[in-house]
Amino acid sequence: MTIPSVQMNDGRKIPQIGLGTWPLKDHDAPAVMVTAIEAGYRHIDTAFRYGNQIGVGQGIRDSGIAREELFITSKLDGEFQGDDKAVAGLDACLRQLGMEYVDLLLIHWPMPARDQYVSTWQTFERLQASGKVRSIGVSNFKPAHLDHLRAYTTVVPATNQIQLSPRITRADHVAYDNAHGIVTVSWSPLGQGSDLLKDPVLARIAAHHGKTPAQIVLRWNIELGLVPIPKSANKQRIAENIDIFDFALSAADIAALSALDTGAEERVDSDVNGH
Ligand code: A2P
Repeated sequence: MTIPSVQMNDGRKIPQIGLGTWPLKDHDAPAVMVTAIEAGYRHIDTAFRYGNQIGVGQGIRDSGIAREELFITSKLDGEFQGDDKAVAGLDACLRQLGMEYVDLLLIHWPMPARDQYVSTWQTFERLQASGKVRSIGVSNFKPAHLDHLRAYTTVVPATNQIQLSPRITRADHVAYDNAHGIVTVSWSPLGQGSDLLKDPVLARIAAHHGKTPAQIVLRWNIELGLVPIPKSANKQRIAENIDIFDFALSAADIAALSALDTGAEERVDSDVNGH
């Protein structure tokens, strides 16, 4: 199976689907990594905050795959914002993962009340030059945060990872990202265990294509040029979620899925569930 890639604004490419790893923990991450890599995943999304990077790194080594075959994303949250704290944060991630570099490092949450994401990003720009991180991006940034960042810094984030599903389409954010050459990555693309996957519109489209509701949601991401990172710890669902490159949705399917949007508000701080 060949997984398509999306071009980022720094000239590098990101595989268009990845494995989300929250809320896996160190003890269960290794087996899940081996399963996912055997199933064909080459893009793994983790974060310092998840507390699973030792297990993720272990599982990647257990799989036997060459490091350069993989695209690994990590994220630094509030404790690494401001001054040069991101330097120590990246070193901690690399130590936990047992890696020389990550492919993509993100500011996990803007935390605008702290007003430190601009200086943190300036540190990220230096880290990119160091070679310990190939691409740099942000997560959970609204257009206003990106406007502020762009006004004071040089490098435009390669990606913005936001919560996004047919119920939370963030069309204005995606349009902003597209206009500025920022790849949008969808976290919790399957609705994070909500009843999204039971939606009758989804069931109708799934039956038509002979696919599962989860596959339809993930394919909708692909059609929109998004990069979904579904999480699963289950072997069958891990394989199911990546088996989405042998069919296409019609324009009517895409519109019907996008119309499921509820306009739900987005958080800007990591205040609810540890993600
Ligand atoms: P599990 O790990 O047991 O598969 P999200 O990525 O939107 O946060 O969703 C993750 C949740 O969705 C997890 O509870 C995961 O459970 C479940 N899940 C993952 N893949 C599928 C699938 N193909 N069908 C149904 N549920 C899924």
